[in-house]
Amino acid sequence: MPARGGEPDLRLEEFGRAVAYMARAAGADWRDPDREPEMMARIRSEERDRIASMGEKYREPADSGRSGEAVYQSVCSHCHETGVAEAPRFGDREDWAELIEEGQHIVTAHGWVGVRAMPARGGHDELSIEEFARAVAHMAKAAGADWQDPSGNATLLGRIRLEEADRRQQLALD
Ligand code: HEC
Repeated sequence: MPARGGEPDLRLEEFGRAVAYMARAAGADWRDPDREPEMMARIRSEERDRIASMGEKYREPADSGRSGEAVYQSVCSHCHETGVAEAPRFGDREDWAELIEEGQHIVTAHGWVGVRAMPARGGHDELSIEEFARAVAHMAKAAGADWQDPSGNATLLGRIRLEEADRRQQLALD
């Protein structure tokens, strides 16, 4: 069962109504949870516990708010400035052309999960996905893309998360 049935845009209220609908069809007296704030709060609390119990690898640091440029300078530049192990070089349009073509959510997710000589999260587990994604956008922009900071964009972040899940499955990391 993928998170949210594979629809990152689905709101918890909508998801909850669909679950209640299915349960009623099987004889339960479950009501639409969004009419009951207390039930919504219980669902949210169970969601938090569930994420916490899924283990270290799912626990991610909160967004520290560092800019893409700051993260790039402190972490990514070590390889991406000069192109260590064929890392796409900062500001090099040729190196970035195919990646930019591929799309922001895909390239961000692949870097986050790790690809060939690119270590997951650039080898820095303390990075939040928002910080990482801002650093990717910063690099793509330097190569001419118009990629924006995805951290305030729930739809784009959701697409990155979906691609991350697909990629992990492909690589059998889970
Ligand atoms: C230890 C070296 C190293 C560090 C540090 C590093 N990268 Fe990379 N990165 C690579 C290499 C090598 C590749 C090329 C991988 C390939 O395609 O073979 C790469 C590729 C990528 C890609 C392209 C992924 C794709 O879809 O092919 C992205 C995005 C990326 N890095 C982002 C980052 C960000 C953001 C940081 C800093 C947080 C970072 N990298 C830090 C080595 C590094």
